Amino acid sequence: MSATLTQPNPTSATWMPDSWRSFPVKQIPSYPDQAALKTVEDRLSSYPPLVFAGEVRTLRNHLAQAATGQAFVLQGGACAESFGEFKANIVRDTFRVLLQMAVVLTFGAKVPVVKIGRMAGQFAKPRSSDTETVNGVTLPSYRGDIINGSDFTPESRIPDPARMETGYFQSTGIQNLLRAFSHGGYANLHQVHRWNLGFVERSPLSNRYRVMAERIGETLAFMQACGLNAASAPQIDETEFYTSHEALLLPYEQALTRIDSTSGEWYDCSAHFVWIGDRTRQPDGAHVEFLRGVRNPIGIKVGPTTSVEDIKKLAEILNPKNEAGRITLISRMGADKITEKLPPLMRAVKATGQTVTWLTDPMHGNTTSTQQKIKTRSFDSIVKEVKGFFAVCAAENVPAGGVHLEMTGQNVTECVGGAHCLTEEDLGNRYETFCDPRLNAEQSLELAFLIAEELKSER
Ligand code: PEP
Ligand code: CO
Repeated sequence: MSATLTQPNPTSATWMPDSWRSFPVKQIPSYPDQAALKTVEDRLSSYPPLVFAGEVRTLRNHLAQAATGQAFVLQGGACAESFGEFKANIVRDTFRVLLQMAVVLTFGAKVPVVKIGRMAGQFAKPRSSDTETVNGVTLPSYRGDIINGSDFTPESRIPDPARMETGYFQSTGIQNLLRAFSHGGYANLHQVHRWNLGFVERSPLSNRYRVMAERIGETLAFMQACGLNAASAPQIDETEFYTSHEALLLPYEQALTRIDSTSGEWYDCSAHFVWIGDRTRQPDGAHVEFLRGVRNPIGIKVGPTTSVEDIKKLAEILNPKNEAGRITLISRMGADKITEKLPPLMRAVKATGQTVTWLTDPMHGNTTSTQQKIKTRSFDSIVKEVKGFFAVCAAENVPAGGVHLEMTGQNVTECVGGAHCLTEEDLGNRYETFCDPRLNAEQSLELAFLIAEELKSER
């Protein structure tokens, strides 16, 4: 840990992009070559930002709408992006599935769907253990491509600051492609609907999903007949798409933090939305201190060990002016715990008077291991947690603001279950994740249809 510990005081008025350095910090490696680290930080600080503060403010407004049920958030992408997957097709396929899901969810929710990728910067990973042991050999854990390498060799596991620069440049390339797809015609609604029809035809449960798909098709045809086309309504052909990642590697986040000349405020320009994970959300810790001063909308993962006290403190520190859209709480309790653990936290937040946006992350509380020690998640437990989330929100009279998923547009075999009934034996076929198991394209779409059914029954 490189930070020194001097008088942590998370509510002090003096915030600077580097004030986190005097707070206790978790999950950030010690770089053996401090001079090289400083050189990279200086260079990154001089590079152009990846996002513009105006876009970040627009997203904050959309999230404020989701807090009151007037929008629904779809946040999704890989657990960890990897440098080796810096490829147009991989970006395109995840983007496409997110668009497909968004169409279905818009139909179910009857409100705009706010699309946020875990993309263009989701490179740093928190780890439960600092080391990993394989066949009696113990090495430092892999912490994501922006920190060290996944190969199980001593050299590869050394934190290398040069990786931050690679992460930056890959993020610019991915962000650029996402902008091109969003505004260049790839996101055309009719096209996205045709892809969905293909999904429904291939699904073993096509009878279940066909009815909704046909109704969406009729709605689109009706809109077209009324004269709503790409020329008259740009929304038919274009979309807004935002980027996000866990703000874990603070030297990198700090280097991309800039003053917005329009407002005079600080923004973390590495992504539109950044979150703090379940392992770094200590109210007196460095990650909270860093996020306190940037004006981005921020996410906080809320797990079964989050206390009522902590959640109140976090709301106070991170959103003292109670601005809607500033805080998104991402519940990741586990399918069997959500109905017990979430209600007290929702009530505590309500009691503070804070307007927050609640999302469900049905992935991180539902990771299991097979007998062969392969990490997986079952589609059924993911669905169960989502349903549990909707039930708790309804009982507590809190709008269900959206979902946060680990998924990919690739046809991987990492999570078991779904209409194609993937089994543990299938996991070996295409298990490609660098960290947690993701829903594949078909499982993601199926989940979107199930969530849309749930939303329709509520509204
Ligand atoms: C993640 O989102 O990949 C993650 C590590 O989540 P959490 O902090 O909730 O465990
Ligand atoms: Co993960």
